[in-house]
Amino acid sequence: MRLLSARLIVSLIVGVTLVSLCSSGYEVLVGKRNLRRDLQRRAEVLGESLAGNVDRDIEKGALQTLQRTVQRFANRENLMGLAVYSPDGHIIAVTPDLAAHMNDAPSVVVETLKEDHEADSFQKLGDARVHICVLPLHNQDNILEGSRDKLLGALAIVHDAGYIRAQSLRIWRETFLSALAHVVLIALITLLIVRWSIEGPIARTAHWMRALRTGRMPSSRIGVPDVELFRPLAREVATFAESLNTARSAAQREARLRAQGQSEWTAERLTADLRTRLGIGRLFVVSNREPYMHMRSGRSVEVSVPPSGLVTALEPVLVACDGTWIAHGSGTADRDAVDRHSRLRVPPDDPRYTLRRVWLNKDEEEGYYYGFANEGLWPLCHIAHTRPIFRASDWKQYQAVNRKFADALLEEMKDTEKPVVLVQDYHFALLPRMIKQKRPDVRVAIFWHIPWPNPEAFSICPWQRELVDGLLGADLVGFHIQSHCNNFLQTTDRVVESRINWEHFSIQRLGHTTVVHPFPISVGTMDASSEPGDESGAEVRSGILKSLDIDALFLGVGVDRLDYTKGILERFLGIERFLEKYPRYQGQFTFVQIGAPSRSHLKRYHDLEAEIEAEAGRINWRFQRDKWKPIVLLKRQHSHKEIQPYYKAADLCLVTSLHDGMNLVAKEFVAARGDENGVLILSIFTGAARELRDALQVNPYDIEQTAEAIRAALEMDMEEKQLRMQHMRRVIRERNIYQWAGRLIAELCELRLDTPESARDALRLRIPAA
Ligand code: G6P
Repeated sequence: MRLLSARLIVSLIVGVTLVSLCSSGYEVLVGKRNLRRDLQRRAEVLGESLAGNVDRDIEKGALQTLQRTVQRFANRENLMGLAVYSPDGHIIAVTPDLAAHMNDAPSVVVETLKEDHEADSFQKLGDARVHICVLPLHNQDNILEGSRDKLLGALAIVHDAGYIRAQSLRIWRETFLSALAHVVLIALITLLIVRWSIEGPIARTAHWMRALRTGRMPSSRIGVPDVELFRPLAREVATFAESLNTARSAAQREARLRAQGQSEWTAERLTADLRTRLGIGRLFVVSNREPYMHMRSGRSVEVSVPPSGLVTALEPVLVACDGTWIAHGSGTADRDAVDRHSRLRVPPDDPRYTLRRVWLNKDEEEGYYYGFANEGLWPLCHIAHTRPIFRASDWKQYQAVNRKFADALLEEMKDTEKPVVLVQDYHFALLPRMIKQKRPDVRVAIFWHIPWPNPEAFSICPWQRELVDGLLGADLVGFHIQSHCNNFLQTTDRVVESRINWEHFSIQRLGHTTVVHPFPISVGTMDASSEPGDESGAEVRSGILKSLDIDALFLGVGVDRLDYTKGILERFLGIERFLEKYPRYQGQFTFVQIGAPSRSHLKRYHDLEAEIEAEAGRINWRFQRDKWKPIVLLKRQHSHKEIQPYYKAADLCLVTSLHDGMNLVAKEFVAARGDENGVLILSIFTGAARELRDALQVNPYDIEQTAEAIRAALEMDMEEKQLRMQHMRRVIRERNIYQWAGRLIAELCELRLDTPESARDALRLRIPAA
C-alpha cells in the first residue's frame, strides 16, 4: 500500500511538473515575442521621426548638423545609439558609443542599401545583445513632386536588447517557483486523500475479508463494507461473500447431517437432484408476479422485489437450477431492462436464471388481474367474508391472458425436449390444459398457493367448470394442505365428468390422469444460531425502538401485505383488548405492523388501508403517552433485509390471517430466530398452523383469545419459549423450500405420462375460446 501511494505521488509530481514546465515555457515564449515586437515598433517610430531631419542634412551636405541631430536623439530608453551611412556603405555620422562597432556597416545595413527597404535584426554587437533597425533615406523633394526618389543612405537605430533576456529569465524563475509550490501542495493533499479515503477503507475491507475467510464473521454482518469510494466493488465483494458464507454453512450443515445419518435439503442438493431428474429437460416457472420489478424513480431506475410469498418461495428454486421464469412485466421501467426477446438475467446483482417478461395492456391487466383473479377468485377461495365479484368481461380477459402466457411459454420451450413446467397460482387455472394441448410431452404441474374452498363455496363461480377443466390439464395439482386437496376433489366430482381415485388422490378425465397432492411450501435459509459477536435480540430491539422514537420494554411485530384476508384489524383489536385487560403493559408493549400496500387500485383494498390507519390511530389515541404508543404502522414495502431485524428483535410475532393458504411470514419469523427466543402467535386458519404446532394458535375472530395469547407470550418462561422455538425450527429445517421443490418436481417427473391414445382423447377436449 505504501509503495502504491509512493508511486502514485511520484507520478503525480512528474505529471504536474511537466505540465507546469510546458505552460511556463509557453508563457516565456509569448513574453519574449511581445517584448521584441515592442522594441521593433519603438525603433520604427523613432526612425520615422528622425528620417526627415537626417534626409535634409545629407542633402545639404551638413555633416556637422547631422552629427548633432544624431546625438540629440541618442539618450532614449534602451537606445544605444544611431548611425547614418552613405549609399556606398560608408559611415557619415554616428553616436560616440557606437563608433567602435559600427564603422563597418553591419550586414543588415548592407542589405537595406542594396534592397532599398527597411530591415531589422537581433544580433550581438561586441558583448551586447542588440536590435538594429535600418531605414533607407530618400530625397524628400522627389517624393513631394511624385518623381522616383533617390537613395541618400541608411539610418541605423541600435537598441540594447539585453533586457529582453533578463525579463524572460525572470518569468522562468517565477513560474518555476510557483510550479514548485503547486507540486508540493498537490502532493501533500494527495497524500492525505490517499491516507483517508483509500488506505483506510482498503484496510477495513481487507480486515472484513479476513474475518470472512477465517469464518469469524457472523452471516448477519455480511453487508456492504463501509467504503464509499469503492461502493460498486464493495457490493460485488459482499455478494461474493454472501455466496461464500451460504456455501460454507450449507457444507457445514451437510457435514453435520451426514454425521447424524440424515440428509437435509439444501440448494446444492436441489441443484444436483434437479440435474439428475431433469436430464436434458429444463425447468420453466410461470407466475403472474415477477421476482424483480424495474421501477422508474425520477431519472433513475430502481429494482424492487415485490411483497409476495410466492416470489420468496420460488426464487431459491430457480437459482438452484438456472431455469426460466415467465411473469407479467409490471414495473414502470421493465421494458427498458430486457433484451429484444423480453428476457433478462436475474438476480440483477448475481445473475443465476432467466426472467421472461410478458406484457399486458391496461384492459388485460384490469380484467384478468384486478378483476377476475383478485375480485373474483381471491375472495372466492379465501373465506374472509368479502363477496367475490364475477364479470363476464373479466372472464374474457382472464382467458385471453392465460392464452398469451401459454404462447410465451410455448415459445420459450420450443427447442427444449422434455421440459418441466411449474405453473403458479390462481391467475393461471386455464394454462395447464392450453399447454398440454400443444405439447403433450411436457410435464405440467400447477401449484395453487391459496386455499381451495368447499364445493358449495366454489359453486358460486359461474365458470367453475372451465376452471376445474383447465386445471385438470395438468399432470399434478398441488395445494399446501390435505384439506385443500380434499375440497378440490369434491369440487371436481361435482362439476365435471371424471373418475376420482380417493385412495391415490388422482382424477381421471378423458384418458388423462391428474394427481392431486399436498406440498406445504416453506422458506429457504435458516438463520444460524447466534454467534459470538452477534448483536443480541435486546440490542437490536433497543436500536429499533430508538429509531422509531418509542420508549418501550416489549416489542411485537406483524408483517403483511395490506390485505383483508390477513386479519390486521382483528389483530389491532386483540392488542387493544390486551392493554385494556392488562394495564400494566401500557407504556411497556409496542406492536410494529409492517404493512405493504397491495392491489390498492381496487376499492376494497384502498378502503382497507384507510381503515387500518384509522384503527391504529384510534387505539394509539386511546392509550399513548409521552414517548410510548401501542401501535406503530409502517405503511410501505420493506425489503427482506429490512424486515430481518424486526423478526430478530421481537418478543412475539402476530400472524392472524382470517384464511391463508400457508403464510410464509410465520415460517420466516421462526427461521430468523437463531437465538431460539421469541413466540409465534398463529391463526388456526393458516396452512402453517398444521405444521407449526408449537406456536400459540388462535382463532383471529376471537379477540379475547388473541389478547390472552399476547399476555401468555410475554410472560412465557425462557425454557418453554426455547423448547417451542426449537421444535418449530426443526420442522422448518426439515421441510424447507428446497424440499418443497424437490418433492414437487420429483413427483412430477416420476408420473407416467399419458399414452398416445389417451393423449389424443385429451386433445379432443374442448377448451374455452380466447
Ligand atoms: C399471494 C398470492 C400470490 C401473489 C401474492 C401477492 O401470496 O398467492 O400469487 O403474488 O399474494 O399479491 P400480488 O397480487 O401483489 O401479486
